[in-house]
Amino acid sequence: MNNEASPLFSSLQIGNLTLKNRLAVAPMTRVSSHEDGTVGPLMKDYYQSFASGGFSLIITEGIYTDKQYSQGYKYQPGLTDEAQMNSWKEITNAVHEKGGRIFAQLMHAGALSQYNKYTEQSASPSAEKPLGKEMTFYYGKGDYATPKEMTQEDIEIVILGYVQAAKYARQAGFDGVEIHGANGYLLDQFLTVYTNKRNDRFGGNLANRLNIYKEIISSIRHALGPDFIIGVRFSQGKVNDPEYKWPEKSADAKYTFEYISSLGVDYIHTTEHVANASAYDHGPSLSELAKIYSSVPVIANGGINNEGDALELLEAQKADLLSIGKAALANPDWPTIVQTKQQLKEFSFEMFNPIADLKTANSYFRENNTM
Ligand SMILES: Cc1cc2nc3c(=O)[nH]c(=O)nc-3n(C[C@H](O)[C@H](O)[C@H](O)COP(=O)(O)O)c2cc1C
Repeated sequence: MNNEASPLFSSLQIGNLTLKNRLAVAPMTRVSSHEDGTVGPLMKDYYQSFASGGFSLIITEGIYTDKQYSQGYKYQPGLTDEAQMNSWKEITNAVHEKGGRIFAQLMHAGALSQYNKYTEQSASPSAEKPLGKEMTFYYGKGDYATPKEMTQEDIEIVILGYVQAAKYARQAGFDGVEIHGANGYLLDQFLTVYTNKRNDRFGGNLANRLNIYKEIISSIRHALGPDFIIGVRFSQGKVNDPEYKWPEKSADAKYTFEYISSLGVDYIHTTEHVANASAYDHGPSLSELAKIYSSVPVIANGGINNEGDALELLEAQKADLLSIGKAALANPDWPTIVQTKQQLKEFSFEMFNPIADLKTANSYFRENNTM
């Protein structure tokens, strides 16, 4: 196929931003910031390499949003003070210099916090001990702690944290923010019946369980105005419950995507194990459901490894933009490789062994002569 005409390399409008192609880097936690949540040169080189490699958009790893309960991992970066905000400027500049765009993913870990330098306690909609075990490649060990149930005041602090972090993101030169509403973290804990036993306006039916999303989206929009890009990420599976499905299946997808899109977000990002697979026994994929029920651009993620995987989703109009995770780690220049018909490298989990940080990855690349 003639790459000039490939839909992968056509432009896309998100809000008032024009992306030069349909290829984005998926958010990936790399536990490589300094202890104080500021970021440095190692991370600058890492993020810049994707922009140099032709990705039009990079969505950062999950960044914590407040100094209360949001931090999830040791060496996770934050956007909670001037020093953290200023440290990101080098990265946003480095990406822009290479013609890329970059969104900050804003993340509150809730009950899945494995480390928080500001407090020993974790907090969640309800005091339910999470399923599964902490992730060892992020310095975890053993069971998750049982979180405390968030008070109304705690929830207010979560919302204010998101707003302040979004303001800092804009000041640091990010082109937008992505609210992490997926993968089992705090917002997904509100969305999920078995982690949300509340009987106030943040618990109960689906509309109530989505109230925290609404509060965060409308508060950021109110604070930053109509032009700043706000997206939201959704998943069914969770890092600690990978096979979970939304209980009312397509009916939940319909309500969720219609409602979230009505709140004025600029895009929806869905993630599944395999983006192209049916969300339920048969029928549309999750990204396709988001396309059907929302009126905003949709990013699909999960198992998009080669050009064929990517084209299939775009050509069937199951997504507008594709986000690539592990295959982008193995190939920071994935778009250039595909466009110039070269061979993609295989991703190896050795890159995360023992820790999923940039030091481990860089020594993996050196040992395998792939750098
Ligand atoms: C090391 C690693 C870290 C991740 N961290 C995040 C994260 O911070 N936020 C997020 O939304 N997803 C995170 N994910 C999930 C990815 O964004 C993506 O959904 C997943 O890797 C599947 O896409 P892929 O098949 O292209 O790798 C992470 C995945 C990996 C492998």
